[in-house]
Amino acid sequence: MDDATLRIGDQELSLPTLEGTMGERAVDISALRKETSYTTFDRGFGNTAETKSSITFINGEGGILRHRGYAIEDLATKASFLEVAYLLIEGELPTVTQLATFEAAIHENANLPEDLKHLFDAFPHEAHPMAVLASGISTFGAYYPEAADPLDDLAVDRATQLLIAKMPTMVAWAFKYRERRPYIYPRYDLDYAANFLHMVFSRPHRHLEVSPQVQRAMNMLLVLHADHEQNCSASTVRIVGSSHASIFASMSAGIHALSGPLHGGANQAVLEMLQAMSDAGGDVETYIAKAKDKDDPFRLMGFGHRVYKNFDPRSRILKGAVDDVLSILGKDDPLLRLAVELEEAALDDDYFVERKLFPNVDFYSGIIYRAMGFPVDMFTSLFALGRMPGWIAQWREMHSDPTTRIGRPRQVYTGETDRPFTPIADR
Ligand code: CMC
Repeated sequence: MDDATLRIGDQELSLPTLEGTMGERAVDISALRKETSYTTFDRGFGNTAETKSSITFINGEGGILRHRGYAIEDLATKASFLEVAYLLIEGELPTVTQLATFEAAIHENANLPEDLKHLFDAFPHEAHPMAVLASGISTFGAYYPEAADPLDDLAVDRATQLLIAKMPTMVAWAFKYRERRPYIYPRYDLDYAANFLHMVFSRPHRHLEVSPQVQRAMNMLLVLHADHEQNCSASTVRIVGSSHASIFASMSAGIHALSGPLHGGANQAVLEMLQAMSDAGGDVETYIAKAKDKDDPFRLMGFGHRVYKNFDPRSRILKGAVDDVLSILGKDDPLLRLAVELEEAALDDDYFVERKLFPNVDFYSGIIYRAMGFPVDMFTSLFALGRMPGWIAQWREMHSDPTTRIGRPRQVYTGETDRPFTPIADR
């Protein structure tokens, strides 16, 4: 590929370019500051590729999402969540034997240490599950120090198993603590999605019978959230890990990053928005007008995306599944009708059309979670549960890449220049 030429004043600089396997092109500006004293300015990294990656491909204009080359539409309907986790982490779909070995390791490690129950006790029962979850995962560095060395490949393999195995138990127990109900232990005989539903919804005296359709829906939801390349939480995970902090510290940071309503927290925010809209009489146009008003901080939650300038393929799949799941569960949710009305109104509005704002993954997921019986403020921890393999894959790719450097952006300083110090008595 041709080099790029940059002219600043009378200085001309040749910058190398690179191209990915799907034709994405980049100008390598790493020598720019050394050669010219200029840095680059790019708010929110909107135009900055910090890494090469072979895990997930997104074409935002085409509404395409693939993991390791496999279309999300296939993975969501044909693969189990642990198959997808294996694919993301190892780079290939597992054989029958590889999957059985992986599943056995996950089952074997699914329980939480008994002592860890005291961690939940330290939280108020009303605590948001994402706060409990992030704290819970960060304790793994203390419980499993032998798995915490980021530079030891065997330790990283062990940490990978521990995180995927214990995450559902942690999410389910955070929920049980909140509900003031006894913890339900993991079951060896259930698959990942069914075991999770069991730990959330079973009671000691009444075990939940998970229907195959609901199990499939839970599996699909987990798969749809499994990875999404260099988003806010994955970048957080990478940047924390780049300091050689442990994988557990990095995952905990990722959970915190995900909790924000502009990222994973949007699934909770969408349901709250729809509920508020319904309580106020269901007037969709008022909310559309609020979202368009530049003096109003309100945004249409579940709409818009940094990368997708077309339908988010995950939201298409979810919209297709929502009716089926509701009918299987025998539910009729008026918030679904409101969501469809809102989507239609937004997609018909010039403001949203011009800015290419489409429903994202968080727009319909909450309706399904709600129908399954999850409380609204647990939604984002369900996103985190699904995203764990993606964070792990991103972290491992970053660590195994010999060109990785500690993440450390530059700034353009705009504060005070040199000032003489005034002693406190003179101020
Ligand atoms: N409602 C109203 N206006 C919007 C929205 C929205 N949801 N999203 C973007 N815009 C407008 C924005 O005001 C801007 O307008 P203008 O050009 O006139 O200044 C334009 O569209 C471009 O938006 P942006 O803020 O520059 O886009 P971004 O890439 O920085 O932000 C986003 C992406 C997802 C944070 C944003 O679209 C948003 O806040 N959406 C609502 C929250 C949400 O649903 N988040 C979930 C994202 S998908 C899953 C995930 O990451 O977890």
